Amino acid sequence: MLSGKRILLGVCGGIAAYKTANLVRLFIKSGAEVKVVMTPASKDFVTPLTLSTLSNHPAYFDFINEEKGTLTWNNHVELGKWADLMVIAPATASTLSKMAQGTCDNLLLATYLSCPSPTYVAPAMDLDMYSHPTTSSTLDTLRGNGVHIIPVNSGFLASGLEGEGRMAEPEEIIAFIENTIRESLPLNRKKILVSAGPTRESIDPIRFLSNRSTGTMGYQIALKAFELGAEVILVTGPVNPIDLPPGILRVEVGSASEMSAEVHKYFPSTDCFVSTAAVADFTPFEVAEHKIKKGKESLSFELKKTEDILASVGRVKLENQVLIGFALESDKGVESAKSKLVKKNLDAIALNSLEVKGAGFGTSTNQLTLFFKNSKEVVIPLADKSTVASQFWQAIIDSVL
Ligand code: CTP
Repeated sequence: MLSGKRILLGVCGGIAAYKTANLVRLFIKSGAEVKVVMTPASKDFVTPLTLSTLSNHPAYFDFINEEKGTLTWNNHVELGKWADLMVIAPATASTLSKMAQGTCDNLLLATYLSCPSPTYVAPAMDLDMYSHPTTSSTLDTLRGNGVHIIPVNSGFLASGLEGEGRMAEPEEIIAFIENTIRESLPLNRKKILVSAGPTRESIDPIRFLSNRSTGTMGYQIALKAFELGAEVILVTGPVNPIDLPPGILRVEVGSASEMSAEVHKYFPSTDCFVSTAAVADFTPFEVAEHKIKKGKESLSFELKKTEDILASVGRVKLENQVLIGFALESDKGVESAKSKLVKKNLDAIALNSLEVKGAGFGTSTNQLTLFFKNSKEVVIPLADKSTVASQFWQAIIDSVL
């Protein structure tokens, strides 16, 4: 969830500031980039050198920066705009109250006011300060302003008292932020099944019939669904290795009948099935037990039709399940795609026309036209397959999910 995110960590002057060194490390371990902004008081609890070393960026604590005899301006607006999210931990009663009032008498507060991205605060204070009605109304004001309040812990406090007010542990802060981000994603709580790649139909123990599908489009569709918060199961035919996050369940199959078995195994519990696989339409009647020798001048096979996996899913799908097909066509694309939409009982079909230069198998780009059951059409222009996958999901979310 935090990989690639730019996090601005605000640190206030409270004893819990000593935990921010660990928090910076954990953010970086999660793949985030971190910049630290400190209040002047926080420097008594944790040094800027520690936080700048761990974050690989200067730790900012003043509007003016005096370095090697030159004065430079630490621009709070630039810092605020840089961030994908701002986290203030520990957030003291004083800083929280100033945030609620819009006071900006230090760099951290000015940066908070300049930051348009989501802001999280991890309050940290003594028991009575935390339970004071003023603090409650401050937190209510901030909540009303869209600030995410990370719950405090209860327990032993630095003052010697015991009760509510301890800052959440760094791991808890990260879990809270990740959960909040996940909850806000459009495919959160959706289970998506994707099929991708070619199938291989065996002729003998060594040879098979297959096609040119590389699986790239299907893998991108699976990856984007995962990034949009879905639980993703990818049933894939044999393709060259493509990296995917470990959170995606990858089920590897060979033949069309193996793919069918796995798709039907997972489909009943899913919200949506996207069938991008280039499934073989025919398979040999018989697979030779031993390698076929080249003794004869010619060789012919009798092939039988494979099951149409998508059509068979279309026959069992429930009202609340969404079914999306792909149609790879070399001519009469629109007519053919629209006919498959109806015949296979789909909610939408993506026409992948080989007549469009740069679209189809073995290219890094693609162009799709989506036809929906309700006659809506969406054209996704020629772009790299990752961009096409993002726009594909945008159209599906807007229309049927
Ligand atoms: N499909 C499938 N099982 C098959 C054949 C196709 O599930 N045995 C799915 C594909 O994954 C795709 C859709 O059906 O989502 C359309 O596939 P396509 O190859 O374009 O069309 P076919 O139905 O095979 O018809 P034709 O080859 O005659 O165009």
